[in-house]
Amino acid sequence: MSKWEVAVTRRLPEAGMDMLRGSCHARLWDEDRPIPHDRLCALAEGADGIVCVLTDPVDAAVMEAAGPKLKVISTMAVGYDNIDVAEASRRGIVVGNTPGVLTEATADLTWALILSLGRRIVEGDRMVREGRFNGWGPTLLVGADFKGRTLGIVGMGRIGTAVAKRAVGFGMKILYHARHRLAPELEAAVPAHFEKLGDLLQKSDFVSLHCPLNKESFHLIGGSEIDLMKPTAYLINVARGPVVDEAALTAVLKAGRLAGAAFDVYENEPRLSPGLAELDNVVLAPHFGSASIETRNKMAVMAAQNLIAGLRGDVPPWCLNPEVRPITEG
Ligand code: GLV
Repeated sequence: MSKWEVAVTRRLPEAGMDMLRGSCHARLWDEDRPIPHDRLCALAEGADGIVCVLTDPVDAAVMEAAGPKLKVISTMAVGYDNIDVAEASRRGIVVGNTPGVLTEATADLTWALILSLGRRIVEGDRMVREGRFNGWGPTLLVGADFKGRTLGIVGMGRIGTAVAKRAVGFGMKILYHARHRLAPELEAAVPAHFEKLGDLLQKSDFVSLHCPLNKESFHLIGGSEIDLMKPTAYLINVARGPVVDEAALTAVLKAGRLAGAAFDVYENEPRLSPGLAELDNVVLAPHFGSASIETRNKMAVMAAQNLIAGLRGDVPPWCLNPEVRPITEG
């Protein structure tokens, strides 16, 4: 039996590659940079499946280039704003992602950023490396306290909730805003209090973003929202870059109207807004929230499982459009 033809846009961790090799002929974009859109269209031509990552826009043009055999698109990510799921559904293509497995690693990275930002770890590291550390000083790089302070979480799904649970250990008060309010027993279990977005921004000492990117969340945090925040507050974005108006935030940080910000994601990734990298009151991470070895291996396996299920005509185990009736062989 001939193997399925699959376009694979990045080399996955080995556990996932092994599974793909076992059941498909993988056409691999094997460069350490995102595949350009025209090359993705060419790679996808005549494919039965596509395995992609979050840097690849899988739009109608890619699906059209793939042609009528395309049955499944599987992304190695929880966020799927790069995939036109409505278009895939219209074409009878199932789409899978990798939710759940990266919750804890992403919440850990969020806390690494919150702590680095508040306690000025990156500034301290730079000072020591550059030979500017002249010994202990009473006011040397003094930063934020956490106990008794308020953490505002925007987007209270799996990751937002995991970030909130960690905040309990730091003795923080937790507010949240989400499109759908949690059930009272879930709020009480954290515990977290629901607020309107404006109220959350006004009351929080740290604001951490965990919502998906979609039409409603594009520039959810723009200039007027940032203006509501306390000048002593910090903003942390590990969601998606375009949730924040990065140019507006950069201007506010430059003017010293906000204590600081930490980014794992950028509006025009991997490019940064002009001036952002020159600021001391920012921590800049390279979009690696889920990058623990175990998490990435599990994500790769889930992406391969989704792909293989879709190729077989089954609904992938983690499917974004299960209403699509998969096309069966023959
Ligand atoms: C990471 O950003 C993901 O969506 O998995």
